[in-house]
Amino acid sequence: MSEEVPACGLPFVVNAPGKAILFGEHAVVHGRTAIVLALDARTEVGFRGKAGGTRTVYNGSTELPRANPYLQEALSRHPSVGPLDLYVRSGLPQASGLGSSAAFTVSLTAGLLALEGGASRLRLAEESFRTERGAQGVGSPVDTSAAVAGGVLAVGAKTVGDRLWELPGTDGTALWSVARLPDPGWTWVVGFTGVAKDTATVVRRVGERLRAPDGPQLLDQIESVSSRGARALLARDRREVGALMNENQRLLLELGISHPRLESLLKSVGEHAVGAKITGAGGGGSVLVLPKEGEEVLAGRAISRVGGVPFLLRVAASGATLVPPGERPQARGAPSASQAG
Ligand code: PMV
Repeated sequence: MSEEVPACGLPFVVNAPGKAILFGEHAVVHGRTAIVLALDARTEVGFRGKAGGTRTVYNGSTELPRANPYLQEALSRHPSVGPLDLYVRSGLPQASGLGSSAAFTVSLTAGLLALEGGASRLRLAEESFRTERGAQGVGSPVDTSAAVAGGVLAVGAKTVGDRLWELPGTDGTALWSVARLPDPGWTWVVGFTGVAKDTATVVRRVGERLRAPDGPQLLDQIESVSSRGARALLARDRREVGALMNENQRLLLELGISHPRLESLLKSVGEHAVGAKITGAGGGGSVLVLPKEGEEVLAGRAISRVGGVPFLLRVAASGATLVPPGERPQARGAPSASQAG
């Protein structure tokens, strides 16, 4: 499924990667550039078959679909597909800032498009963004783009890197350029606080913060970090990427999205990190650490010592992937498979 979503009949499985934002979260909602890493921890949606009754069955229940706004939104866009029997399995903790909702939305949308005869990757990217935005009410296409395309991406108004596609904003005017940057091939350490974050609430609060007189200046400073970050990634300059993560973290503190548990995780990795920052919306969720080379496990241990959940992850080479019947699913298993001790 490199260039498009193929047509496929039931049953099949689709999986898609999670993500961590390296630079530019929040600023991207306001038209600036973010750089995002698709991470090799995936969510898998199984399309088992048609449901026996008139309602979609999700993880064995006909009640659960009503409680899942992403599922509701996606299904409502494809009424002709009819009630399905679906399951989800994920190596990504929910509400952690690691893109579990986007990986779910993209896997689900790819499957629905496959049942309708297939579609282009651009259509998958557009529709997944609209579905996530519809369910969440706010946000940029950063998470869904990473789940569709995999790899390292720049998402924003300006094109940085090799352009993949452009997405219109939900108001039909803004344009998001999605471009690919090279993967430097490093192992990243993510630390989940265990505190669920609420993206929509934090995004709205940051929107208010940015209406202060220094708001535009803060956004420009974050844009500058992202564009220097893109150059540092192209040069595979680990020190510079780490230094820019620290610079981005100082700006995120200005946005007021920290939390005592995030501070504690960031402090814990100090001596093992080249750079470290909050990743995603903040107010809970996770930190992203670029460890010193060879100190990945030490950084992971430091996080678990202060009660965080560490993940040692590489960039996911592939985005959303449809696995036809008979082929082995590629999704990673339980979160413990990718945790450090
Ligand atoms: O939902 P999260 O924690 O992965 O955050 C997404 C990043 C934001 O920039 C805060 C929101 C967005 O949609 O870009």
